[in-house]
Amino acid sequence: MNRYIGIDLGTSSVKILLVRRDGEIEKAVSREYPISYPHSGWSEQNPVDWYNQTIDGLKELLSGVDTDTVKGISFGGQMHGLVLLDENDEVIRPAILWNDGRTGAETAYLNETIGQDKLMEYTANISFAGFTAPKILWVKKNEPENFARIKKIMLPKDYLAYKLSGTFATDYSDASGMLLLDVKNRCWSKEMCKICSVNSDTLPTLFESYEKIGTLLPEVGRELGLGEITIAAGAGDNAGAAIGTGISGSGDCNISLGTSGTVFISQDSFTKNECGALHNFCHANGKYHLMGCILSAASCNKWWVEEILGSNDFKGEEAGLDALLGKNDVYFLPYLMGERTPHNDVDAKGAFIGMRPSTTRKEMTLAVLEGVAFALRDSVELARASGVKIESTKICGGGAKSEVWRKIVANVLGIPVIRPLIEEGPSYGAAILAMVASGEYSSVSEATKKLVKNRDITYPVDEIQSLYNKKYENFKRLYPALKDVYKLI
Ligand code: XUL
Repeated sequence: MNRYIGIDLGTSSVKILLVRRDGEIEKAVSREYPISYPHSGWSEQNPVDWYNQTIDGLKELLSGVDTDTVKGISFGGQMHGLVLLDENDEVIRPAILWNDGRTGAETAYLNETIGQDKLMEYTANISFAGFTAPKILWVKKNEPENFARIKKIMLPKDYLAYKLSGTFATDYSDASGMLLLDVKNRCWSKEMCKICSVNSDTLPTLFESYEKIGTLLPEVGRELGLGEITIAAGAGDNAGAAIGTGISGSGDCNISLGTSGTVFISQDSFTKNECGALHNFCHANGKYHLMGCILSAASCNKWWVEEILGSNDFKGEEAGLDALLGKNDVYFLPYLMGERTPHNDVDAKGAFIGMRPSTTRKEMTLAVLEGVAFALRDSVELARASGVKIESTKICGGGAKSEVWRKIVANVLGIPVIRPLIEEGPSYGAAILAMVASGEYSSVSEATKKLVKNRDITYPVDEIQSLYNKKYENFKRLYPALKDVYKLI
């Protein structure tokens, strides 16, 4: 039976799946790579590490596999990261990642001097510090010698696709997060290129996520024991996750509890959400979506349990939290890397509030999980305020494995939370995109209808939901109260 490879180039690791055409995952491997924080609020990775670790992972994935049955590869990737190549295709400087907050000044220039109205007109989005365009402006101002060497500008997963296929390509879902794409018309924005001093030759060719961009380069094929198989464009990790969880109809929602936390709402047609705080992006199925993103989600829990509690017993730390749902007086603001939606504030930071001498370790652990859920509710409320009806949500990412966290999310949002049978999100979505690009299925929706199944549903409970509604009202008042303090610390 034909097999496909889905690669999710994440922030902490690359996760690679070997998936049969009938949707069965046969093998999964992952490889980690370092992240560096050269200054407070900055975050960088070396694209060469991504490639080397991916090749290493692919070798393990393919060992013992009949490689003649492997027909295609595709990608989901951390979005917004700035990868720059010179005339020899060498990486010019480390990639500046999606959660890097160095571009406060450039973001303010775009939003205030160019103006949010113009940005909305050109791209359907406003600027956020993590987006790619302000990073290009930062390099231009702070590293003119690097800026002068730029011959190719690409996103993280596109670097892998380029190394594997030799095609300089991106897809519409990921390109949406650059603030250089005219999202509505699915083309590069001439105006934005001018504003950012970007020569359009340095931008990749645009494809739909499920389109073939080329075939595996023979020299890479020889190293991996693969033939000239299809390479499909792939998607930004959130659009990829939405494919992997079967989100494609208008109002369908997926929440990803990974390093970041996202609320992804699929839209059949382009309906610009004017508030700006929610992203208006292209979907990987050829349509559109709205998205809210918090920069620290499961990473808050990891930080709390591993760094602060000095434990790696995540299950143990969560034991007994069920009994406390809705009754916890401690609040946590999950802004460890600043915040994207809704506050767009690189100075925001994490905070615990409400402790007393009687406060327990359990309550603080619960506050972390609740704080992430409340921050996600901020995005859901923005969508609701603009008339979008969200009846339920899928959930994926590392945090989705926690039963108590799923209960918290269901009760904080007041909707059923559906866990798909396969929680791998972006890597599974990438494998599906490779199948469609290889002609295994005629469309993304045909593939997801056949392949994506549900595991279980967590329903909100009236009493807990109303306690969380009250707590959310208090949560909403905390960021405004701290906003000015954040600038001082
Ligand atoms: C989405 C975003 C994050 C990254 C994480 O806008 O910035 O979800 O894609 O990899």
